[in-house]
Amino acid sequence: MTQDRIIIFDTTLRDGEQSPGNSMNLEEKLLVADALDAMGVDVIEAGFAMASNGDFEAVHAIAKRIKHSVVCSLARAKTADIERAAEALKPAKQSRIHTFMSTSEIHLKYQFRMSEDEVLDLIANTVKLARKYTDNVEWSAMDATRTRTEYLCKAVETAIKAGATTVNIPDTVGYTVPEEYYTLIKALKNNVPNIDKAIISTHCQNDLGLATANSLAAVQAGARQIECTINGIGERAGNTALEEVVMTLATRKDLYPYKTNIKTEHIMRLSRLVTSVTGQQVQNNKAIVGANAFAHESGIHQDGMLKHAGTYEIMTPESIGLTRSNLVMGKHSGRHAFKDKVKSLGFELGDNAIEEAFAKFKDLADKKKEIYDEDIMALIDARAVEANDPIKFVALQVVCGTVGEQTAELTLNVDGQERKAKVQGVGSVDATFKAIRTLVPHTANLKLYQVHGVTQGTDAQAEVTVRLADGERVINGHGSDTDTLVASAKAYVDALCRLRAGRKDVEGLLAG
Ligand code: KIV
Repeated sequence: MTQDRIIIFDTTLRDGEQSPGNSMNLEEKLLVADALDAMGVDVIEAGFAMASNGDFEAVHAIAKRIKHSVVCSLARAKTADIERAAEALKPAKQSRIHTFMSTSEIHLKYQFRMSEDEVLDLIANTVKLARKYTDNVEWSAMDATRTRTEYLCKAVETAIKAGATTVNIPDTVGYTVPEEYYTLIKALKNNVPNIDKAIISTHCQNDLGLATANSLAAVQAGARQIECTINGIGERAGNTALEEVVMTLATRKDLYPYKTNIKTEHIMRLSRLVTSVTGQQVQNNKAIVGANAFAHESGIHQDGMLKHAGTYEIMTPESIGLTRSNLVMGKHSGRHAFKDKVKSLGFELGDNAIEEAFAKFKDLADKKKEIYDEDIMALIDARAVEANDPIKFVALQVVCGTVGEQTAELTLNVDGQERKAKVQGVGSVDATFKAIRTLVPHTANLKLYQVHGVTQGTDAQAEVTVRLADGERVINGHGSDTDTLVASAKAYVDALCRLRAGRKDVEGLLAG
């Protein structure tokens, strides 16, 4: 059993996706899964196979391609769920079924209407069933931190006896505090007779902002797996942020003498990738990955930094994949330097994609003197617009300001044909989006419109996210440009293309 190593279990694609606006399509999930694998995550929770056909497909496709990480699917304590998870995981080199059942009195009484003894039987039966498909089975005691400790011990003992190799003690409602969670994990270590046959895992929600602190307290009490997500995304206030626990373990080896498999220099890349596919920006002061995490503003701090970085910096920006001076290139930079830069930012692009990105880089360099890493990442946009997208942005001219009507004159190429519209709106964004709706009539509704400056300065590129909902389907589109309205139009068009790509049955969606 790993005593000196902490297993990092990433649930960005399951718990992370389980929050408003974070849903990802298959292509986006594969990109994130590949990047997690390359970063050295031990277990990737790829989804909840029974939840929908889309989830099943995602778990299955991830299981097929992942080279190093164990691929895991969540399953309720139900035969059909466990069988569906096993089916989805079939192609995996290494698979794990993660099954769970509530153990707290409040859940058993009001949600499940089951007695404690009935739940013990259910745990034994479902873990045994999962073990028929894989010898790597995780069992979670949902709402563990509000469960009577004596009963939790019995439930954990039952799961291990039935074959669970990892027992997870979730703080499902984000209610516990570090001292209490430490005591709970110690109680399990001291009172569950077969506890040495399984790894104890933490899964902390962040409702009180204590998820990272609670996970680390559990490690000090003997837990050896941390469940976490990139940027801390997840149900309600989110989950434990992978970057926070991993960098705490790396920075405070004096307190936590444990290794992880994580290549920490990949952290920034993962953070940006997840931001890009979900459209959820991290706040500037977010620990580790926020824009200000390594910015020193006050005079006394800057003075110290100039004399010795260690005076005010407890970890280096390089250790999470940030370069100290990221002012990189301009219009004289060549193809070779560009290729090297793209590689150093962690992107593996094929020849065509590199050529496409280089052409975009040259266009940008004509408009913007200083090009930063963030600019390059925004224009590569790992999910770059496909050459065969049915709708392409061509041109936009906008009349805005306080004199006259705000008007957008837009040209799009739709299915190979150029279409033009001149439309008025309540402001220039409204006019631009109305012009898109005129050229490409559709039933989907706009759910989010978000603009983010990629770098500082008035010539910075705007990165825009547009979220469209069409019935149950929710899709994020992205666009970037030095002109915010052009970026907005590109993001809207990208969302429409994605909706069409995912719905072969709805050619009518884009009729017009
Ligand atoms: O929060 C929770 O309890 C969960 C379990 C299924 C692990 O997500």
